[in-house]
Amino acid sequence: MYSKKYFIANWKMNGEPKDLDRIYKIEKFLKNFKKKINLNCIFCLPFTLLGLINHKKISVIKIGSQNIAASSIDYGAFTGSVSAKMVRQLGCKYTIIGHSENRNEGETDKDINKKIEFASSKNLKAILCVGETFNEFKNKKSFNKVKSQIYSAFKDNKRHLGNIVIAYEPIWSIGTGLIPEKVYLDSFFKKIKDLIRKDFKKNVPVLYGGSVSSKNISSLKNIDCCDGFLIGGASLKTQNFIDIIKKYYI
Ligand code: PGA
Repeated sequence: MYSKKYFIANWKMNGEPKDLDRIYKIEKFLKNFKKKINLNCIFCLPFTLLGLINHKKISVIKIGSQNIAASSIDYGAFTGSVSAKMVRQLGCKYTIIGHSENRNEGETDKDINKKIEFASSKNLKAILCVGETFNEFKNKKSFNKVKSQIYSAFKDNKRHLGNIVIAYEPIWSIGTGLIPEKVYLDSFFKKIKDLIRKDFKKNVPVLYGGSVSSKNISSLKNIDCCDGFLIGGASLKTQNFIDIIKKYYI
């Protein structure tokens, strides 16, 4: 059903104004890419760069933020926060919500649940990150962990499910070069999809994230039921990101 694959770049706390040229280069590549490809390419940038994107230079690529405030109001006394409305005004169509790096800094399941609602109410699609620690993985608790994160994020948000993309990112895989085995990922993705279909009567795209690069994409592209990728480090290097897409479609 989701033949349109996602390639989402997460620049994290990286990038200067001049680095936006990398995005325009990738846009050119995508436009000229010979094969008939059907993809969603999204760049999730730090807040500092969101207003600097020249939207006239991009049409294939969409822009997203890496977080939004857990506040239902658009403007107010929340020092250091940026609301869903504010990023939407800058042309964002997506926002990452619940990245493990933010959960680690104290973002709670309750915050994440609210952020999904606030994002949807402003027409922002939520890229909901879920994933387990290495200890949980070792103790075979991965699925229970992810299941509880999904349940908690979806609670009272059923009407917003069409606005959500899930990124399964084992925390121990982020930035480490460690990737779970294919057999494990095949069955894990199937279990997540079945769970959402059965309990929420929806088909939500599920992506893989964690050390994706041009070196491992040829094997990662074969994960059953995987709708695309959330790419951190490798998205900062123009050629690496382009090679990921090229190799995916070879
Ligand atoms: P990584 O990051 O690709 O550098 O592992 C992925 C992420 O944290 O979204």
